[in-house]
Amino acid sequence: MKSSASAPGKIILLGEHFVIYGARAILCAIDRRVSISAETIPQRTITIESEIGKLSIKHDIEPTELDSPLRPLYHLAREITKKYNHKGGIAIKVKSDIPAGVGLGSSSACCVAGAAAISALFEEPDRQSILRLAVEAEKTIHQNTSGADCAVCTHGGVIEFKSDKFTKMDIVPDFKIAIVNSEIEHSTGDIVSHVKQFKKNNKRQFSEMLNKEDKLVNDALLLIKKNDLAGLGRIMTENQLLLDMLGISNQTLKMIIRIANEISFGAKITGAGGGGCIIALNNHTKIGKIIDHFHKEGIECFSTEIDFRGVNTF
Ligand code: MEV
Repeated sequence: MKSSASAPGKIILLGEHFVIYGARAILCAIDRRVSISAETIPQRTITIESEIGKLSIKHDIEPTELDSPLRPLYHLAREITKKYNHKGGIAIKVKSDIPAGVGLGSSSACCVAGAAAISALFEEPDRQSILRLAVEAEKTIHQNTSGADCAVCTHGGVIEFKSDKFTKMDIVPDFKIAIVNSEIEHSTGDIVSHVKQFKKNNKRQFSEMLNKEDKLVNDALLLIKKNDLAGLGRIMTENQLLLDMLGISNQTLKMIIRIANEISFGAKITGAGGGGCIIALNNHTKIGKIIDHFHKEGIECFSTEIDFRGVNTF
């Protein structure tokens, strides 16, 4: 038996980190994908081939004993094998056009596409079970995940996410997002732990920031519906000030954001921060200018479209 699935990466328009503590976030799926093929094999091993590494191990190793970025896929293969009482093993191949470790959801897309492809070896999975499996897999590398990234990679489009619940917005926004890659890799788990410590040391301040973030998202939802890009850009800039206060920015990101702010409606970190990517809000006329500018500076910058498909099996 063989099956394949693919899932999109993501950007977080507003609300990263605060979403873990109950504030709302807005996320969009993007037009870069991870594709995964899975095949049942007679040997009782799980093999994984991907650009970030290779693995071939027996099922009896606990995922926690595995020091590898492929741990979530190993966990998925092991759990699904157990669930369907499959006596053999599984061979998995991963192909990705999402840059890894820079906040564009490569790891969540991998968990979602992996859950879909491996499950489809045994029965056609629905999106709810794919998402549940994907979030469990993601927890093997980033224990405190909000689940927001996996939700948008599963369902596609634009979603409003709050505490495990999400709504897919019934809109096709008329904006263009530029993604600027600082090429500084980050560990989401480490940065999430840093924010947890900030929260512990600054309880009152953090609670005020959480309320502020939730209000920003509320205002942003109205502005997106009105396609008020100037207003939405201002909200993104205000969100960035909150992220700066959390201490997850650095000189390179600040420099990119300052330049992007001069050319676009607003710019901010997307994802965990500490490196990774910046998103900048543009309309159809501004987008070319920002891409040209960063290209001339030798900094990777590209335009992204929203993906409305989410995960698919084939
Ligand atoms: C990472 O893309 C987004 C964070 O909010 C973590 C999470 O929501 O799990 C930093």
